[in-house]
Amino acid sequence: MKRVIIIGATSGIGRALAALYAVEGWTVGLCGRRTSLLEELRDTLGPSVRVQPMDVADTEAARQRFLDLAAALGGVDHVIISAGTGYLDPAFPWEKERDTLMTNVAGFAVIAHAAFDLFRRQGFGHLAGISSVAAVRGGPAPVYNASKAFVSSYLQGLRCRAVSEGLPITVTDILPGFVDTAMAKGDGLFWVAPREKAARQIFNALEKRKPVVYVTRRWRMVALLLRLLPEPLYRALVCKKRENGAEAHGR
Ligand SMILES: NC(=O)c1ccc[n+]([C@@H]2O[C@H](COP(=O)([O-])OP(=O)(O)OC[C@H]3O[C@@H](n4cnc5c(N)ncnc54)[C@H](OP(=O)(O)O)[C@@H]3O)[C@@H](O)[C@H]2O)c1
Repeated sequence: MKRVIIIGATSGIGRALAALYAVEGWTVGLCGRRTSLLEELRDTLGPSVRVQPMDVADTEAARQRFLDLAAALGGVDHVIISAGTGYLDPAFPWEKERDTLMTNVAGFAVIAHAAFDLFRRQGFGHLAGISSVAAVRGGPAPVYNASKAFVSSYLQGLRCRAVSEGLPITVTDILPGFVDTAMAKGDGLFWVAPREKAARQIFNALEKRKPVVYVTRRWRMVALLLRLLPEPLYRALVCKKRENGAEAHGR
């Protein structure tokens, strides 16, 4: 039976992925901070589920807990890092920037590195990280977009290392647009995908071992446009002043 570990499985995209992988017959290891939700998932998804509470921002403890879970599963085929955070706060406090950095950058990197290292020792494995279309350009939530640029770049770097070291490791960068979860906040959301649809597209793309995946597929066009827009036009469209003082939030 194939084994997957999902980091950030207590809600949203990660939770939908957990349900889907369990239905598809995989053994599933689930992580997140909210222990009660992990236990609820274990009770509803059945005996193929193991849970491991984890705060990725506590990096050294998270690395050890990830390795413990992988050992308890007897190895792991897929690791999916969905854990992430982001804030829409017009006051723009440093504490929230720091929280996003610790979760989306330090927390992401420690698990991505631990998974790659484990796959190297196993001689196989597939790592997927959930970045965002926001990765392609800076936006009004500066640390969020920057953190997702880090995620995409780090994954590309790991893919590069797998090739240069001749390792049979697959690495996938997943860039969602808007998905209907607690993270999709703010005005002006469009093309919001149901989380089950997002999970199915991610599952199918990983089965095909794709290196880069846009969810849903039409967001590839948006990413291309965002990359090509000249700076003044980008500022006018994306960074425009909000009448009520609220910040725009490009996921
Ligand atoms: N929804 C969108 O429109 C959208 C678009 C593009 C990208 N994304 C990305 O998709 C990923 C999943 O987000 P979502 O939309 O599914 O939102 P969500 O429902 O808020 O899920 C976030 C998940 O991350 C976990 N998490 C957060 N901080 C953590 C920490 N320090 N340690 C361990 N786990 C942590 C949460 O679990 P606990 O709270 O239990 O720890 C939760 O399971 C994120 O990386 C997000 O940036 C979302």
